Amino acid sequence: MPEKRIGIIGCGTIGSQLAMAVDTGKMPNASLVSLFDIIEGSAQDLKSKLQSSPHAYSDFAGFISSGFDIAVEAASQDAVRKFGKTLLEAGRDIMIMSVGALADGVFLSDLVQTASKKGCRIYVPTGAIAGIDAIRSVKHLLESVTLTTTKSPKALAGAPFFETNKIKLDAISKKTVIYEGPASEAVKIFPANVNVAAVLSLAGIGVDKTQVRIVADPAATTNRHEIVATGRFGELCITVNNVPSPGNPKTSFLAVLSAIECLRSICDDGMRIGS
Ligand SMILES: NC(=O)c1ccc[n+]([C@@H]2O[C@H](COP(=O)([O-])OP(=O)(O)OC[C@H]3O[C@@H](n4cnc5c(N)ncnc54)[C@H](O)[C@@H]3O)[C@@H](O)[C@H]2O)c1
Repeated sequence: MPEKRIGIIGCGTIGSQLAMAVDTGKMPNASLVSLFDIIEGSAQDLKSKLQSSPHAYSDFAGFISSGFDIAVEAASQDAVRKFGKTLLEAGRDIMIMSVGALADGVFLSDLVQTASKKGCRIYVPTGAIAGIDAIRSVKHLLESVTLTTTKSPKALAGAPFFETNKIKLDAISKKTVIYEGPASEAVKIFPANVNVAAVLSLAGIGVDKTQVRIVADPAATTNRHEIVATGRFGELCITVNNVPSPGNPKTSFLAVLSAIECLRSICDDGMRIGS
């Protein structure tokens, strides 16, 4: 299998850790060729910490002209919407972290059709949750899927939900349910908090039927995701208590590790477990 050339979109928490994993040889059969971040100097800053010498860009036109095989999006839902189709049309595979963007069914089917026309792949890591293999296995038997996400107020701060809602995060003194609704809505109003709801929906019964509950807990020291899925197969209860990543309290450390493992398995043609 020829070496996979990697381009990274977004040089923040996940993008930096991915770049370092490739740079330090943790991913056999992979090389890092380009970095792109919308913030001027960000890609260059990350480049200066690496042994290898990828191209660094603050514009998409420059980035896409560099010779990578797979673009890893670790930026924002907006980046997926803006660049996803163009990347596929240019014959590049993509790995998507900001999975909430795929909750828009029209956009998703356009991406999938473009990928199929161009013979490209779209990869979605399991991210900050577990049990996606089991959810996929019982997909056609599912009757209900509920995700309860509990985070500290500081890990929820900045979400668009608070722009139109009277809830004041700093006034919350005890564990409080602040949102209940379908995943289709949750990923829009908490775009940086519940990408896992989109992953779960894609694997299971879709964004309209998957229910999401968001709990703000001032005592929380972890990002906790609890999935309960029921159906004719029985019941699945999956709980993940994630340590937040040091660089970004919204992003769980497991999401970073899942991104690294997903990219490793894409680049390495050897044995795959669970995919
Ligand atoms: N799938 C999951 O389970 C999961 C888990 C955690 C985070 N995420 C998502 O992954 C993404 C990255 O997370 P992070 O913790 O690394 O975030 P981060 O904020 O630490 O870094 C994001 C970087 O992307 C850059 N960026 C934003 N929009 C861009 C654009 N349009 N073009 C180019 N660069 C852009 C920012 O400048 C920033 O440097 C976020 O969207 C986050 O919500 C997904």
